[in-house]
Amino acid sequence: MAQSTPSQQLLEKIVSLAKRRGFVFQSSEIYGGLNGCWDYGPLGVEMLRNLKEAWWRAMTKRGDIEGLDASILMHPRVWEASGHVQNFSDPMVDCRECKSRYRVDHLFAEMSEKKLKGIINTLYSALEAWEKGTISSLQEDDPFSLLPDYEVNPYFVSIVVIKNALDGGLKIDDDLRDQLAANFFIAQPDLFTRVVESGLIACPNCGRTKTLTAPRNFNLMFETYIGPVKDAANAIYLRPETAQGIFVNFLNVMQSSRQKVPFGICQIGKSFRNEINTKNFLFRTREFEQMEMQFFCKAGSDDSYFEQWRETRWNWWRSLGMPENKLRFRPHEKLAHYAKAAGDIEFEFPFGFGEIEGIHNRTDFDLTRHQEFSGKSLQVHDEETKEKYTPYVVETAAGASRGFMAFLCNGYEEETVNGEQRVVLRLHPFLAPVKVAVLPLVNKDGMPELAQKLEHDLRQSMKSFYDDSGAVGRRYRRMDEIGTPFAVTIDSDTLQDHTVTIRERDSMQQVRVAMGQVKQYLSERILM
Ligand code: GAP
Repeated sequence: MAQSTPSQQLLEKIVSLAKRRGFVFQSSEIYGGLNGCWDYGPLGVEMLRNLKEAWWRAMTKRGDIEGLDASILMHPRVWEASGHVQNFSDPMVDCRECKSRYRVDHLFAEMSEKKLKGIINTLYSALEAWEKGTISSLQEDDPFSLLPDYEVNPYFVSIVVIKNALDGGLKIDDDLRDQLAANFFIAQPDLFTRVVESGLIACPNCGRTKTLTAPRNFNLMFETYIGPVKDAANAIYLRPETAQGIFVNFLNVMQSSRQKVPFGICQIGKSFRNEINTKNFLFRTREFEQMEMQFFCKAGSDDSYFEQWRETRWNWWRSLGMPENKLRFRPHEKLAHYAKAAGDIEFEFPFGFGEIEGIHNRTDFDLTRHQEFSGKSLQVHDEETKEKYTPYVVETAAGASRGFMAFLCNGYEEETVNGEQRVVLRLHPFLAPVKVAVLPLVNKDGMPELAQKLEHDLRQSMKSFYDDSGAVGRRYRRMDEIGTPFAVTIDSDTLQDHTVTIRERDSMQQVRVAMGQVKQYLSERILM
């Protein structure tokens, strides 16, 4: 069996800690699990709620953003208007022999460098032969006899560029793999078929060649039926994004809250996508939570709002402890047909950088489409010009579950302190599932009673935990591992002077605080 890499081992450790300490469990584990679905345990649910709360407060405390909680099931026409019925699909190929199914881009993402080079070289040779006129003499069924059809295809220029660059020492990276998949094989399924038929691409599962079908689009929306009759007329979808609930409620929210453009609507909720490849723990799942905000503004002000939101959202992740060097903003090179500008805030997961939030200038596309499909006007009145217009939208779309995973990965650290190993989860105190542990130094002399009373008092305002089992050092370690930022210890001095020791998780420094001041001391350091 292949050895796992250090980054895979790190991810395995995080997944294992998440299960052992009750952050995240596999869904339906006793039945063997359900792929792409996860359950949040006692600590996980606290942390996820804290993350969502931090986002909700940041959005709604501004005064120009209203909240919403739209239903998951929506009128099927919503998804026609949004373009999801037609376009929300991934190109897939199936193995006719072993029945495995792959996303075309993943096929190329995971292909060995040698095989990729083989394909590029073959395409290049075929192109060369065609240029020299020799290919026209090949048989009809020759895999590359199709090439002349692509005479005007600009991507064939890039095959020459890629080939030369590879010969000059260029490394095959993720971007190049994406480019090959998208430009050559997704855009030209018949070329993909020719390459498969020539035996250059094998099924990654069974290893057979010439068994993969041509790419076909597979819609990622989960379909179900509303009411008792299961027929096409009753087909309905589980929402693949929360954004559409906001668009269709734009007028309702604006009128009921008496907001005026520019203003935003925000929502947190579950979304569902029948993702084909669900690896990497919570990163890409079939059921997940999103935190989305649509900011409605007048055309002309959209560029400036895009920049403002890009900065605001970046600062939000930073304010919760994400270090600058683990984040990057990646502008989209290829824009969706409706987008004027778009980019992702990415976090460096153990497996590499991955999107945690998208910022998009969606223009007036969505509101215009919903007007067309519903027949209802979604225009607003411009008080200056006295004219009506359809607002533009700048969207911030963050993943709550993906963000949760990013914070777990960012916080996880193993270190040696005084010759002893400790695992510490360096979570921002606001995100930490348990804020404070209360520990009697020893189980006698009235210390447990005092500690229990203090823990009971603290519990009314923050998540606290009483622990009296084992040596105090071990108790600290158990709390470090789940990210508890503070531990309060009741010792013999407490009995004399009513002060306690408060130990901080990261620095492990201890201060003495009067018992009556503990709640205030902690609250000041936990609240955002
Ligand atoms: N309304 C726009 C929209 O949904 P998106 O980039 O598809 O945009 C936004 O999704 C965020 O939702 C992503 O940045 C990611 O954090 C999260 N997300 C998307 N698909 C996901 C999945 N399958 N599993 C977990 N999180 C996902």
